[in-house]
Amino acid sequence: MPTLAIKVLAALFLFALTASNSSNGAEPAVTLTVQADKPGAKISPTMWGVFFEDINFGADGGLYAELVKNRSFEFPNATMGWSNVSTGNRASIMEIHDKDPFNAANPHYLRVKVYPDCKDSMVSNEGFRGMGIREGEDYTFSAQIRAVEGSPALRIELAAPDGRKLAEAKLSGFTKEWKKYSATLQAAATEPKAKLNIHVEGQGVAVDMDMVSLFPVKTWKNRPGGLRADMVQMIADLKPGFMRFPGGCIVEGRWLDIRYQWKTTIGDPAERKLIINRWNNEFKHRPTPDYFQSFGLGFFEFFQMCEDIGAEPLPIINCGMACQFNSNELVPLDQLQPYIQDALDLIEFANGPATSVWGKKRAEMGHPQPFNMKLLGVGNEQWGPQYFERYELFAKAIKAKYPEIKLVSSAGPSPNDERFKFAWSKLRELKADIVDEHCYDMPKWFFDGATRYDKYPRNGPKVFMGEYAAQSLNIVNPNNRNDWGCALSEAAFMTGLERNADVVVMSSYAPLFAHIDAWQWTPDLIWCNNLNVYGTPSYYVQQIFSRNRGDVVLPVKIDPEQQGNKKPSLYATASREEKTGEVILKVVNSAAEAVEATVQLNGAGKVSDKADVTVLAGAKLADENSFAEPKKVAPVKSSIDVVAPEFKYTYKPWSLTVLRIAAGQK
Ligand code: AHR
Repeated sequence: MPTLAIKVLAALFLFALTASNSSNGAEPAVTLTVQADKPGAKISPTMWGVFFEDINFGADGGLYAELVKNRSFEFPNATMGWSNVSTGNRASIMEIHDKDPFNAANPHYLRVKVYPDCKDSMVSNEGFRGMGIREGEDYTFSAQIRAVEGSPALRIELAAPDGRKLAEAKLSGFTKEWKKYSATLQAAATEPKAKLNIHVEGQGVAVDMDMVSLFPVKTWKNRPGGLRADMVQMIADLKPGFMRFPGGCIVEGRWLDIRYQWKTTIGDPAERKLIINRWNNEFKHRPTPDYFQSFGLGFFEFFQMCEDIGAEPLPIINCGMACQFNSNELVPLDQLQPYIQDALDLIEFANGPATSVWGKKRAEMGHPQPFNMKLLGVGNEQWGPQYFERYELFAKAIKAKYPEIKLVSSAGPSPNDERFKFAWSKLRELKADIVDEHCYDMPKWFFDGATRYDKYPRNGPKVFMGEYAAQSLNIVNPNNRNDWGCALSEAAFMTGLERNADVVVMSSYAPLFAHIDAWQWTPDLIWCNNLNVYGTPSYYVQQIFSRNRGDVVLPVKIDPEQQGNKKPSLYATASREEKTGEVILKVVNSAAEAVEATVQLNGAGKVSDKADVTVLAGAKLADENSFAEPKKVAPVKSSIDVVAPEFKYTYKPWSLTVLRIAAGQK
């Protein structure tokens, strides 16, 4: 039996041998060979897109810039978000009425009665976890108002949590008829958690209010009642090829009566009927009782945003099935026609002439030109025979009238299970256009998944990797982190999506947004609070791939493919951009050590003397971005000298690197 001392010596010897091997360069040298003269599949302009869902306060309280919560008093608890503060013996009271409303779709409104000996009557709205107000910026207050008793006047005030007044405006002269009044308030200071106070002046008066609203004047493209400019900008900066909306499970609803119905989301925002947000009470560990959908951000606004940012719109429509994780409520096949009609009408709304029934509604909203929609999703994350029976009826009707529309169909919630296999067999049979796959898994799945599509059949339906995100722990775990380790594994996976552009034509990370005080699901691509927004490391991975897409795939080979028992630490994809003639080489190094590689551009003609380099790297896999350090993991740009079709490049530890090399073809 060897003694302990001998065992220790042997271990030390082995360690020294391994260490000296690697420091002497005994690890095989790595060569990355790009066939610059052998362009392969075209990369679809829709390859990298975004998935928007109203989850985590994505729309109300997020992208939709309205600052007043429950502005139309239609929450089931009609005064939620509102409080009444008054002083005096008999002060004032808030009442909710629905008699003679200004709008039948949202009939409830607020009545404030001020008693004769009340000294100060005030109703206050708390906003969506406060209101983000910026010093020097203007805010538009508006409301439908009518006088009930006497001649009430309103003093509108923005206030900090400590009571400091930030802005003030006055409104008066109300009549017995509903009428919209508005005023501009300029903020004297920046405050992330402001509230709106409405003082009702006049003793013994009574006043009715509805659609009480406060918007920043500075919205995306300065549209009144519009979207948060910083949040849209974050999407625009991704240069997404498409935007999927409105989800996600929100399309399905937990029950069919709270499914997303696009027709109730267009026209006058005051007429859009509010419903509960399905994420309100989905997770017991993350309840959000004040989460509703006002649809101020509705289908017209989604199409308009897509047009603004140059993304193809991809609306998803309910296919007669509520969420299969919840009620699994089904519309009988013989009652499906209204759902199919909704899909046909949606196409007319987006693309029909301004003289058509639904095209006219689009024109009345200020967009006579069609939105030129080319893609439509039938159902979200559905599975089982019930889905395919319904999909088939939708596909038949839509293709008969609009053969040019490409349909996106569902492969269910998992990328591998029996439901998934059944879905693919059915969808091949049905000659589906594009199949939507979903995957939320650990980073290892994504590293391994870099070769997933190498093995896919090259004919039949195309793939949309429609929802994916690496989970540091596991799906719906509230302790999942948006760390660099997850983002790096997504980058490795994405090299496999692009290399297989003949099969994969679309992809999107999910979910897109999360409000730091009101989220239900993590990880997410972009985090916001009431004033600021930051991109996670995953955001920068998406941005780098999208901005360095290229038009055709170039074959790329990593030698050696396997190092002993070790998987290669490099993952690569190469493409050529027609406009610039550049070869774009994206490489992920998953190792904790730098890797020096010989890059060979086979078949390249003249190579320029400089190449643009973008590197995204974290010092640790646990690195995260935050409001305090929004760019801890962010792209760094530089350039290197390149004069020959063969050169050496050292890939940093745990990094994603893009080299853009102007290389003519021989
Ligand atoms: O992205 C969050 C949810 O995950 C989506 O709503 C749903 O489609 C999936 O289950």
